[in-house]
Amino acid sequence: MSWTLNEVSKHKTSESCWVIIKNKVYDVTSFLNEHPGGAAIILKYAGRDATAVYEPIHPADALEKHLPKSKHLGPVNTEAAGALEAAVRNRKKTKDEVRMEEAHKYKPKLSHILSLRDMEDVAKRVLPHKAYAYYSSSTEDTISKGENARAFARFFFKARVMRPVNQCDPATTILGFKSSIPVFVSGAAMAKLAHPDGELNITRGCAAQGIIQMVSSNASYSYADIAQAMAPEQTLFFQLYKHKDDAIALQRIREIETLGYKAIFLTVDAVVPSKREFDIRAPWYLEDLERGAPSPFLEEQADSLQGTSFGTAGGLIVNDDRDMTWEKTIPWLRSVTKLPIVIKGIQCVEDAILAAKAGVDGILISNHGGRQLDYSFPPLEVLYRLRKGHPEVFKHMEVYIDGGITRGTDVLKAICLGATAVGLGRAYLYAQGAYGVGGVKRITHILETEIVTAMRLMGASRIEDLTPELVERVDWQPEVKARL
Ligand code: LAC
Repeated sequence: MSWTLNEVSKHKTSESCWVIIKNKVYDVTSFLNEHPGGAAIILKYAGRDATAVYEPIHPADALEKHLPKSKHLGPVNTEAAGALEAAVRNRKKTKDEVRMEEAHKYKPKLSHILSLRDMEDVAKRVLPHKAYAYYSSSTEDTISKGENARAFARFFFKARVMRPVNQCDPATTILGFKSSIPVFVSGAAMAKLAHPDGELNITRGCAAQGIIQMVSSNASYSYADIAQAMAPEQTLFFQLYKHKDDAIALQRIREIETLGYKAIFLTVDAVVPSKREFDIRAPWYLEDLERGAPSPFLEEQADSLQGTSFGTAGGLIVNDDRDMTWEKTIPWLRSVTKLPIVIKGIQCVEDAILAAKAGVDGILISNHGGRQLDYSFPPLEVLYRLRKGHPEVFKHMEVYIDGGITRGTDVLKAICLGATAVGLGRAYLYAQGAYGVGGVKRITHILETEIVTAMRLMGASRIEDLTPELVERVDWQPEVKARL
């Protein structure tokens, strides 16, 4: 059985809604209300080809996993496939695509990227607007995102000299797994928005540089495709967004266990979608750009309360568990898996202590890169307070931070204050989006070089030499971060 475009086009309402994805027809009527991204976006493409919007944000196995077999209606016919292919071929490029193509032509050689900030500057120019808006956005007044980074400027080194540093080794282990530097890729969703190889770029780059990738539940490649891209001996961690239905959450855990993921980072700071205004505005901006003018105001919209959307991320987490507790969720997770458990999204000392009591293997102090609760404390400050007031916690579990890290010195400040390693999320999305796997390798190499240089200059030749005595918190802040 194969379908003509005319037949498919008859099913374009919420009573009967079909879409075409990669030349196959799907009846998504019963799925409309379950779609995490909402029914409206599917209905926009009802009765026609949705491949171009579907592909950059969905892993290849999404339809297999979420739509019953009986709703997979089969392929379009040869004539329809030809017509769809011609439509793609003849499609006029959007203004955003034309801009990106030009920007890619003039982007610097990789060897001319000297810092993670250089990489972000390029990403800002070459990424699709939607991708850059999603990756870079943070909540409301973006205070936490800014302060996460500024916090590092309040910590200064008390460098020690006259210590042998010719041999200098920045390698460490994270939950017992080797890492060439005390850095891992923190979970971050939808890498394919910015590059067709998406998360696979990160997997391959991490393999080349010997660091660990934490794969998001909301990755745009399937967990299986990412595991397939692994090199022998490579380590992947998994960032779990726990579904509210334990049985569905368990299926996800079983899948990643079978695929060989080595730890679960349970995300606890994103129980509801937040308000990321740059991301929410992106589709409106793109529509206006295409039109060449702002959209006209229509009188019937005058008293509308509609129009607050949660943006790209909102749909990803609507089905997640909002009722997690220390008493219920951690014992449940322990009872279903033998993998190490790390709590991702600890934002204060009190919860760090509760996590240690709950007996987890680690905590990632994080405010989701400032993407969730605005004015949540900078992770480095939480780490500092934890180290100062409760040094015993570090004996019971590993502690990591993420958020605002752009330099090797930032990494070393966190390690001196007791962190086992630090995570970077956005930096890897930007790097893979701008340069593919090469970008991932490049920024890891930059971090490694900066880490080794700074270790030598502060008199440390091994990670164990990085102790709290080597940093001091000051109550002033340098005015400008030099960017020469
Ligand atoms: C984010 C969620 C989905 O976009 O992790 O921050």
